[in-house]
Amino acid sequence: MPEGLGVREVPVELRVNGVKHVLRVKPYERLLDTLRRRLGITSVKDGCGRGECGACLVIVDGELVPSCLMLTVQARGRDVVTVEGISSRSLHSIQEALIKVNAPQCGFCIPGVVIAAYWLLEVKGNLNPSDDDVREALSTNLCRCGSYHRFVKAVKIAAEELRARKALGARD
Ligand code: FES
Ligand code: FES
Repeated sequence: MPEGLGVREVPVELRVNGVKHVLRVKPYERLLDTLRRRLGITSVKDGCGRGECGACLVIVDGELVPSCLMLTVQARGRDVVTVEGISSRSLHSIQEALIKVNAPQCGFCIPGVVIAAYWLLEVKGNLNPSDDDVREALSTNLCRCGSYHRFVKAVKIAAEELRARKALGARD
């Protein structure tokens, strides 16, 4: 039987990076595919497809979620954040720090790393993370280029920058 034949689409409303979308999707459609194929948000990468590499990480209602393991219907009525949502006008401090320490090599894992780091610093509010805090937050992010030490360095630099901004009362 051809894929999807006879399976009814269902209405779904979700907010992605603050923008409301009303869509009709198959009940089995992954959030990853909705973001990439329907909404053109290609920072969310299709890596392992089974929750093990972190390339597809997004934040859903404040939780770090592999979008390959969430159905779009499960995101109904919820707030989804991707890299585009945290750096629409300029690079976020995390992105600047990653560039500063030369962490991006092929770049495939980087959006997922940025999202995991953002979750740690800005969602959980840990602006003074230890090396272990960073490693734990990024524990599901696989980097085939082996930039792990640079990720830790970058996240700590970004945390310092955000702490300084907070002390000055400035907004990122
Ligand atoms: S593609 Fe989702 S965790 Fe690897
Ligand atoms: S920079 Fe290449 S996979 Fe991480």
